[in-house]
Amino acid sequence: MALLYVTSGWDTEAWAAGMAKLAPGRDVRAWPNCGNPDDIEYAFVWKPPHGVLKQFRNLKAIFCLGAGVDHILLDPDLPDVPVGRVVDPDLTMRMTEYVVFHVLLHHRQHLALAEAQKNRVWLASLEQPAACDVRVGVMGLGALGGDAAAKLRQIGFQVAGWSRMPKHLDGIETFSGQDGFKPFLNRTDILVCLLPHTADTTGLLNMDIFKALAHDGRLPGPSMINAGRGKIQIEADILAALDSGVLHSVSLDVFEHEPLDPDSPLWSHPRVVITPHNSADSDATALTGTLLAQLERFERDGVMENQVDPRRGY
Ligand code: NDP
Ligand code: OXD
Repeated sequence: MALLYVTSGWDTEAWAAGMAKLAPGRDVRAWPNCGNPDDIEYAFVWKPPHGVLKQFRNLKAIFCLGAGVDHILLDPDLPDVPVGRVVDPDLTMRMTEYVVFHVLLHHRQHLALAEAQKNRVWLASLEQPAACDVRVGVMGLGALGGDAAAKLRQIGFQVAGWSRMPKHLDGIETFSGQDGFKPFLNRTDILVCLLPHTADTTGLLNMDIFKALAHDGRLPGPSMINAGRGKIQIEADILAALDSGVLHSVSLDVFEHEPLDPDSPLWSHPRVVITPHNSADSDATALTGTLLAQLERFERDGVMENQVDPRRGY
C-alpha cells in the first residue's frame, strides 16, 4: 500500500518528504516515480495532469492539497473514488488576511493616495467614509468566505453574503440562489468573490453584475476583489467596466489564464491590483498534519472529511 503525491508546478518531492517524516511507517512516493502503479491506494494531488490518476486501479481516495478542486474534477478520466479537500485554519487565515487587506485598500482609497504621493500632492480633499458606512458583499459563504465575512464585520463594515443554499451567520445579512443575487449585488459597494469554479459560476463576474452593484455608495464607485478562480471572471468586461466608471477599482488574485499574460492591459491599469494567485498558499508544513488526520479518519471510519460533491462541482 502506498501514498502518491502528484502535483504540477509545486515541489512534489518536498510535499512527499513532509508526509514521510510525519508518517514514518508509510510508503510515500512522488510522481512520476510511482513504482508499481498497483501499489498506489491514495493520491495527494494539486493540478494532477489529466489522465494520470486513471492508471492506479487500486486507488481508494484522492486528497486535494488545496481548497479548490476544479482542476481535479475537470479530469475526464477521473477515477470514481471519494475526493477530499483542505479546510484548515492556516489556509483560512491566509485568505482572510488577503480579503481584509484588499477590502481596506479599496475602502481607504489607497490607490488614489499612492498616486497623490507619487505626485507630491496633499490629497486632504479626499472624503473618507467610515467602515460602518460601506457595504461589503461576499460571494461564497463557505470555509473561506464565512471567515472573511465575520472578520470584516468585526472591523465594522455592513457585510452581506451570497451562497447557493440559505445560511444564517451572526451579524451578516445573507442572500441565496438566483432570487437573492440581484438584491445582494444592489446593496454592495465592495464585492468579494470566494466562489469555487463550477459550471454555474463560470463567467459570473461580468458586465451585467458590475452594473447591478450599488452606485449610490460613499466611495467613488464599486470595487471588486476576486480570489476565487479566474474562470469566474470576464477580464474584457472588467477592463470595460473600469474604463466606463461602472467599476472603480479591482484586486485580482486569479485570472482566466495563469500566469497572466505579460501583454495583458490589466498589468498597467491604474486602478487594478494584481497578485499572483497567492492569496492563500497551501503550506506543506502547516497542512500535512491535517492531511494525515484526514487520511487516518478515512482508513479508520471510511469517512472522508470535507468531501467534494462532483455533481455540485465543489
Ligand atoms: P467552500 O466549498 O467551503 O464554499 C463555497 C461557497 O460557494 C459555499 O458557500 C457555496 O454555497 C458557494 N457557492 C458555490 N456555488 C455557488 C453558486 N452557484 N451560487 C452561489 N453560491 C455558490 O469553499 P472554500 O470557501 O473553502 O473555498 C472557496 C474557493 O476559494 C475555492 O473553491 C477556490 O476556488 C478558492 N481558493 C482560492 C485560493 C487562492 O489562493 N486564490 C486559495 C484557496 C481557495 P453553499 O454554502 O450553499 O454550498
Ligand atoms: C486553492 C488554491 O484552491 O490555492 O487552495 O487556489
